[in-house]
Amino acid sequence: MSFLQGWRKREEVTDRRDNRAAEVSHWNDVERRAAGGERLFWLNHPRVAYHYHGKALIEGLEWQDWIIGKLSGPAEIALELGCGNGAALAENLQRGLARKGVGIDLDVSRFTAKGNVELRASDVNTIKLERRKYDLIYARQSFHHFEALEHIMEQVSAGLTDRGFFVLDEFVGPSRFQWTDLQLSWVERLLGLMSKDLRRYANGVEKRSEGRSTPEQVIEVCPSEAIRSADIVTAFYQHFEVVRRQNLGGTIQHLLYSGIVQNLADDDPEVDRLVDCIDGIETSLIAAGLLPSDFALLIGQGKSIR
Ligand SMILES: C[S@@+](CC[C@H](N)C(=O)[O-])C[C@H]1O[C@@H](n2cnc3c(N)ncnc32)[C@H](O)[C@@H]1O
Repeated sequence: MSFLQGWRKREEVTDRRDNRAAEVSHWNDVERRAAGGERLFWLNHPRVAYHYHGKALIEGLEWQDWIIGKLSGPAEIALELGCGNGAALAENLQRGLARKGVGIDLDVSRFTAKGNVELRASDVNTIKLERRKYDLIYARQSFHHFEALEHIMEQVSAGLTDRGFFVLDEFVGPSRFQWTDLQLSWVERLLGLMSKDLRRYANGVEKRSEGRSTPEQVIEVCPSEAIRSADIVTAFYQHFEVVRRQNLGGTIQHLLYSGIVQNLADDDPEVDRLVDCIDGIETSLIAAGLLPSDFALLIGQGKSIR
C-alpha cells in the first residue's frame, strides 16, 4: 500500500498528455470529495491540526496577525499563489489582513470567495508581477506544486513593496514524495501504537507500513505533486532575507495518517492522547536533528538590493 491509496490515476480522468487538465481535474476531485464530507488529509483531524498550527505561532500569534502588527495594519494588496477555492483568501480579508486580495490559480472556477477580491486563472510558473505592488504575497500548501521556483521567487521579490512580506506555509519534504528509509521506518513503528480499527484503509486493508511510490506513480495522480519541494527552502534563502522559519513537522504524521485519518474520531480523549503522543515523538526527533521537518512556515522580505 502506498501514500497514493484511494486517489484516481491521471489516465482515468483525462488524456495523459494534458498535464494542466489532469491538474485541474485532480483538484476538482479533491474539492468534490471534501465537500462530500470525506477526510482526505492528515490535517483534517482537529487534534493533528491543533499541533500543526501551534507550531506555526509567532510570539503567540498566527502569522496573519503577526504580519498585521508588523505592517501596523492591513496590507494594501495581498496576493495568494495557488489560491484553490479561495477560502483562505476570503478568511484573510475578513480578519483584516489586507484591504484587497488577488488570487491566482490554474482554475478559478472553484473559487467561492466574495468581497474585494480579484481572480486570475493563470499558471504561477509563468507569472509576471507588477513591481512593488504587493505588501503581502503568500502561498498555503500550493508552492510545492510549482516547478519554476527561481522565476517565481524573482517575480515575488520584484512584486513586493519595500515593506512587503512573502509567506509560505508549505510542504518542503522530499521531492515527488520520495520518502527516506528513516521516516518510513518511524511510520511503521508508530503505526504499531494504533489499534487495528484505527489503521484500516477505507477498503478494509490493515495499514502496517507506508510505501514509497515511484515518481512516475506520483505524477500519474497529480502531475505537479511535490515537483521540487526539496528545493524550496534553499531557493527561499537565496531570494529573501529570512525573517522567520518555523518547523511544522509532518515528517511522520503526514504519511502515518494518510488513508486512515477518517478513522480518528473528533473529541475522543483516547484518540487525542494517541495523537499527542505521536506528535510529541515527531517533534522531539525533529528538535534533536534526527529527522528534518517536512513542513515549514517561512517568512521573508526582499533583499536590500532588488
Ligand atoms: C493543495 S491545493 C492548495 C489550495 C489552497 N492554497 C488551500 O490551501 O486550500 C494546491 C493548489 O495549487 C494549484 N496549482 C497547482 N499548480 C499550479 C500552477 N502551476 N499555477 C497555479 N496554481 C496551481 C492547484 O490548482 C490547487 O488549487
